[in-house]
Amino acid sequence: MDEAIGRVVEMIVASRRAIALTGAGVSTESGIPDFRGPKGLWKRFDPSIGTIDFFREHPDEFWRFQLERAKEMLRAQPNSAHHALAELEALGKIKAVITQNVDGLHFRAGSRNVIEIHGSVRVARCTACGRSTPIEDVLIMAERGLFPPKCRDCGHILKSGTVLFNEPIPVEELEKAYREVESCDLMIIVGTSLQVYPAAHLPVMAKQGGAKLVIINMESTPFDNIADVALRAKAGDTLAAVLEGVKRKLVAVD
Ligand code: APR
Repeated sequence: MDEAIGRVVEMIVASRRAIALTGAGVSTESGIPDFRGPKGLWKRFDPSIGTIDFFREHPDEFWRFQLERAKEMLRAQPNSAHHALAELEALGKIKAVITQNVDGLHFRAGSRNVIEIHGSVRVARCTACGRSTPIEDVLIMAERGLFPPKCRDCGHILKSGTVLFNEPIPVEELEKAYREVESCDLMIIVGTSLQVYPAAHLPVMAKQGGAKLVIINMESTPFDNIADVALRAKAGDTLAAVLEGVKRKLVAVD
């Protein structure tokens, strides 16, 4: 393990444009369950609850599910994996974090260039006029019995700001992600099962562009075979150790 971490440290120090790709496994140590891990959400719920069709047909049930998740995310604090990625960015060693997570924990840890390709739980949007409403206001509406939540301007139903299954990824975010992937020379993939597209295609794109790949995940992924280093490990401890290694190397170089 130490040798593998050492290799990751060397790769980061040698890189000119390293980026990270993260998934739900980066936030489990903050108490937010992932989807497909041993205690994943899709073991307790039918994933159809996360589709745009389910939201349209059963908005009450969808919002009950979504607000419980939102509360959990608002209560959660960034963990050492989020902090390590933020610090690596501050050191100039990570240029962007592309995340499938909607919990905002990368921003709260201090990462600046975060591309949230599956949207964010922080705002809901009106399905008719597009006006955005902070999730805190939606929670207050729900407490007062205004449920499912409706737009204050036009009265139409609000949809969560997260990208649901069978919904397109916002073009702007996807294009930003593609630009980062096309120009990266190292992609550090953390806490994702790499089963959902287009995110799962990003490591392939990076590899085809000549970048090196590191995968840090508790379980194997379909792309371990194309990774330069694949670590079966917890995100928090591993990224904290990687950060320490990078800092030591950078001091030694100065
Ligand atoms: N450290 C490292 N890996 C972890 C940790 C941890 N502390 N905790 C969990 N994992 C791993 C799990 O073993 C699993 O392989 O993280 C992975 C998380 O995979 P998923 O649950 O599939 O999450 P993700 O890849 O982000 O899912 C993608 O699917 O349901 C949708 O929209 C949802 O954005 C999500 C998308």
